[in-house]
Amino acid sequence: MEFVTLNNGVKMPMEGFGVFQVPEAAVCEQAVCDALDAGYRLIDTAAAYFNEEAVGAAVRKCGIPREEIFVTTKLWIQDASYEGAKNAFQTSLHKLGFDYIDLYLIHQPMSDYYGAWRAMEELYAERKIRAIGVCNFSAERLADLCANVKVIPAVNQVELHPFSAKTEALSVMREYKIQPEAWGPLAEGKHGIFTHPVLEKIGAKYGKTAAQAALRWNIQRGVVVIPKSVHKERIEENLNIWDFKLDETDMEAIRKLDLGNGEKDDHAAAETAKWLNNWKIHD
Ligand SMILES: NC(=O)c1ccc[n+]([C@@H]2O[C@H](COP(=O)([O-])OP(=O)(O)OC[C@H]3O[C@@H](n4cnc5c(N)ncnc54)[C@H](OP(=O)(O)O)[C@@H]3O)[C@@H](O)[C@H]2O)c1
Repeated sequence: MEFVTLNNGVKMPMEGFGVFQVPEAAVCEQAVCDALDAGYRLIDTAAAYFNEEAVGAAVRKCGIPREEIFVTTKLWIQDASYEGAKNAFQTSLHKLGFDYIDLYLIHQPMSDYYGAWRAMEELYAERKIRAIGVCNFSAERLADLCANVKVIPAVNQVELHPFSAKTEALSVMREYKIQPEAWGPLAEGKHGIFTHPVLEKIGAKYGKTAAQAALRWNIQRGVVVIPKSVHKERIEENLNIWDFKLDETDMEAIRKLDLGNGEKDDHAAAETAKWLNNWKIHD
């Protein structure tokens, strides 16, 4: 495992484990235990995933010191305001059963996220959060945020995989020293990623699978990856990417798979903003 140093000096593992769409507590707790056992040291949850309690329970019972595990959670749109963020952070902290969070992210660039950011800056100053960041911010939203806040985000978590490479957005993140983190690094299984001939052929050169080639490609362009699986063998497979290196020809061949609009969610579409705003996580 390699680590990146964020723009505030905090070290973050280059690979972590995501738990989106694992709402059942027992399944989530078992998957996080399996991931920690396999060697993952970054767990990515969110208030909107309804599984912070299960993540906290797994982290507490795994026997690994809390400070060796990097836990991310996220603020949902419904709580995106100054007061909302202060309350939602306490709720997440309580559900996880921790006294601090490693990385707290604004989940979507929607509603009063500036108010939320001010609250997060205060929580960060109080050392309740080790790093603060955002998700799904386009280059233009990110530049605007950076122009108007005290603390520059440490991370921008966006959809990044071979079919959605976002090369230009990554260069803007680099300009602000914001670490890119890939959600959906396996394209959530779309575009036939697991049997894609280009990825399979490249993986086979190194005795690896298409999934491992796709994850390794993001790592080698400096992107943190957080693949999700509830299957132990896949959890292990996805972490087994630290003993090989793609060459420049492989990197270029994977770069050519970019579809430009290969995203699951079009964040520029009004319909996306409407359904995300309608997604309520509490009364
Ligand atoms: N910030 C955001 O807006 C946002 C949005 C989406 C996701 N995320 C985060 O990013 C994490 C990862 O993204 P994701 O869960 O959406 O998608 P993903 O990791 O790209 O793909 C997960 C899917 O691939 C399957 N899979 C995983 N490894 C596999 C393998 N080696 N071979 C075959 N199938 C495999 C999983 O099935 P099984 O589980 O059945 O194995 C699951 O259906 C999330 O869990 C979440 O933490 C953040």
